[in-house]
Amino acid sequence: MGKRNYYDTIADIYDQTRWLTESVAEEVADFIVELVNALPETSFLEPGVGTGSNVLPLVRRRYAVTGIDVSQEMLDQFRQKLHEVPQNLSLIHADASQLPFPDQSFDVVLTVHMIHTVANWKTFLDEIDRVLKPGGFYLNAQCITPPARMEFERYFRMILSKYEGFRESKPGNKVIEEININVEEYFHSKGYQSTYVVAKKWTVSNTVEELLSFFKSRAYGLCWRVTDEIFAQVMEEFEAFCAEHYGSLETELSSEAKFEIWSYTAS
Ligand SMILES: C[S@@+](CC[C@H](N)C(=O)[O-])C[C@H]1O[C@@H](n2cnc3c(N)ncnc32)[C@H](O)[C@@H]1O
Repeated sequence: MGKRNYYDTIADIYDQTRWLTESVAEEVADFIVELVNALPETSFLEPGVGTGSNVLPLVRRRYAVTGIDVSQEMLDQFRQKLHEVPQNLSLIHADASQLPFPDQSFDVVLTVHMIHTVANWKTFLDEIDRVLKPGGFYLNAQCITPPARMEFERYFRMILSKYEGFRESKPGNKVIEEININVEEYFHSKGYQSTYVVAKKWTVSNTVEELLSFFKSRAYGLCWRVTDEIFAQVMEEFEAFCAEHYGSLETELSSEAKFEIWSYTAS
């Protein structure tokens, strides 16, 4: 676990560059509690827990929550949100492809915006299946990038692609869509039943300037595909493009975000 990864680098700005607010996270937690018919003793595991935004409301509701992550810095950000780590929360620095738990340990395993970041997703799914209790729930959740921000990213990608050394790749939402199909096939082949639900829809608004600042701080993987020197040139060109295209850096971009859940239960 010694190696610093991309999430270590961006841990301190991660939350501000996303769109899940505390109040939305609270509503999503209530939705999840109802979806899995949680009892006071229901146990939750979130591999790739990151800065803890998804499970913090479950911890506050006194459920037993375990979060694991490969990034020590992301876990530290989570710890900073708490005065002290409460007894019903266990945070573990580990790789989700080798879950350090006995078989049938958890009632609910939740992953949010995570599977596409795991190198060996098939092994990871085997691990989820192994640690789930009979009749337990696996919730594969995504908080897809809102359309206005996707469009903003598309413009950035268009400029970036003109520069030396940039390798084209699929947009993030496309990668996630493909992984979700694989996840569905995997759990159906294991006899799980699935349902798709939207836990929450809400409007996300940012000024162009705010979005630019996220890119300037290299909050997204795409920003690391070129050298520092080229990145500075890309940002200069992108800022000029935004000023012209949006009319002003103060322009507000609003669109709808969705917290989607693919829920799997062993039949
Ligand atoms: C996009 S972030 C999502 C964080 C959190 N689930 C959320 O919704 O805000 C992906 C997280 O998964 C973690 N991660 C990636 N690969 C992992 C692995 N193999 N094992 C454990 N954590 C991993 C990253 O360190 C990062 O914190």
